[in-house]
Amino acid sequence: MASPVELARHVAGFDSDGVRHMQRLFRTWSLIADLALADVLLLAPVASPNVDSDDPPFIVLANVRPSTSPTLYTHDPIGDRHRPDNRPLVADAWRNEELVQGRVAFGPHFPEGEADILAAPFWFEGHKLGVVLRERKVTQRQQIQLETTYNALADRLLQMVSDGIFPFVGSGDPQYGAPRVGDGVLVLDADRRVTFQSPNAVSALHRLGIHRSPAGQRLADIGLDDSFVRSAFALCKGVTQELERGDEVTVTSRCIPLLEKGVVDGAFVLVRDISELKRRDRLLLSKDATIREIHHRVKNNLQTISSLLRLQARRVESEEGRAALDESVRRIAAIAIVHETLANDAAEDASGDDAPFLDVAKPLVRMIEEGLGSRDDPIRFEITGDAGRLPLIRSIPLAVVLTELIQNVVDHAFPDHVHPDGGRRVRVDFDTDDHELRVSVSDNGQGPPEGFDFAEARGLGLTLVNTFVTTELSGSITMTDGDGTDELPGTTTQLSFPRTWEDRVVGPALD
Ligand SMILES: Nc1ncnc2c1ncn2[C@@H]1O[C@H](COP(=O)(O)OP(=O)(O)O)[C@@H](O)[C@H]1O
Ligand SMILES: [Mg+2]
Repeated sequence: MASPVELARHVAGFDSDGVRHMQRLFRTWSLIADLALADVLLLAPVASPNVDSDDPPFIVLANVRPSTSPTLYTHDPIGDRHRPDNRPLVADAWRNEELVQGRVAFGPHFPEGEADILAAPFWFEGHKLGVVLRERKVTQRQQIQLETTYNALADRLLQMVSDGIFPFVGSGDPQYGAPRVGDGVLVLDADRRVTFQSPNAVSALHRLGIHRSPAGQRLADIGLDDSFVRSAFALCKGVTQELERGDEVTVTSRCIPLLEKGVVDGAFVLVRDISELKRRDRLLLSKDATIREIHHRVKNNLQTISSLLRLQARRVESEEGRAALDESVRRIAAIAIVHETLANDAAEDASGDDAPFLDVAKPLVRMIEEGLGSRDDPIRFEITGDAGRLPLIRSIPLAVVLTELIQNVVDHAFPDHVHPDGGRRVRVDFDTDDHELRVSVSDNGQGPPEGFDFAEARGLGLTLVNTFVTTELSGSITMTDGDGTDELPGTTTQLSFPRTWEDRVVGPALD
């Protein structure tokens, strides 16, 4: 089904300004529906060469239901078309360019009864865009003061729609936590004195420590910072402000001025206690900080383990034993680097659980480089491409795998007799799309041993690599003679794996 924007553009012929103004209406019109205790719809004449432009049918572009009372529209009315004689009040409002009120019997979609209708032409900068319609069921029930007050406010807003001044332009969108009618309403007269206060508004004032009755008072007189009200009166626009009491209580307040012939002759203020929302925000923030702190501590603990093993290695007599301990130190250090990267990732959207893998790969390469010590014949390390962000469960095995592969280049690719032109080199290439990450490690050394079969490799290093790639990463790996170009003709190891759990090809390792 077409969206309101698509219908507005393609069926009603709105231009971009018109669409933007319609969206402005959508951001604020639940206010009208809630105050009117009514359904509100936006209709516009169908603009197409094959309809009668003097008497076009109207199409419903959008609707909003009241959150304060039942709706008349149990079906979705968007896209419904109405002939003008079926919607005479809409057609009148459109044709005569004025607010039209009346009663009509319900159509086929509705239950028995009559609807009380107000139809306002909807304008943007002198261009007539459509008709805003509010519809509610006529009841015999006696209305309480709150209802009559709210309904009168809604009528004022619709008069302002008809006058082309509501929704306000450049008034700032009501943000997250924006107050709604049910949260609390204060009505002010032209003198900014309170003429009505809803029970929820009084409760919100209590939360702010204000226990004097606001009736007949200016908000400043009862101890409230009312600068937002004065701004709203001066600017003739809605103005929002957060009112605070200590660290604990925050009440967001929005003042909507009411205008008659360009002059503000009153206003209403919506108030909402958002202390709980704020508190949860703070908790969330500190949850991120806690996750970082934990990564930091894990890193420190891993470093402690490394140092203990290093101390142990110094006391081991056998060359083989010492080498084994050194390898373990390196593997642990690789994992520590992942935790350190997660602890330090300050990206805006950082979740504490993922980080750009290049931020892991770079320090990892540096670590191996430093492990080389001073050599007459250094090795040049390069990293190309981008790996994107990887979650912890992917970056830990990948970090271990990379360490093994790069260390193998250092250990095996360049025996003393191998001195390639241009010097000894190793390059790590990353290449990624939304679904898959591909990594290759290439060198210009002597290449794998004669008849080397990767699948049969029994060394601990390649066994770990194989296991991590095929099980933890659910990926695949190959090792070949050279990268296919003359540039790095030694050994090339290529691996690829799905970025996310959903993209994996389910294999035996994941059963
Ligand atoms: N980049 C490379 N160049 C040449 N030979 C390699 C390379 N990578 C691995 N190899 C060969 O694969 C063998 C197995 O490696 P690995 O499983 O890491 O064990 P280790 O490093 O302990 O020997 C190595 O001994 C070496 O012969
Ligand atoms: Mg090895």
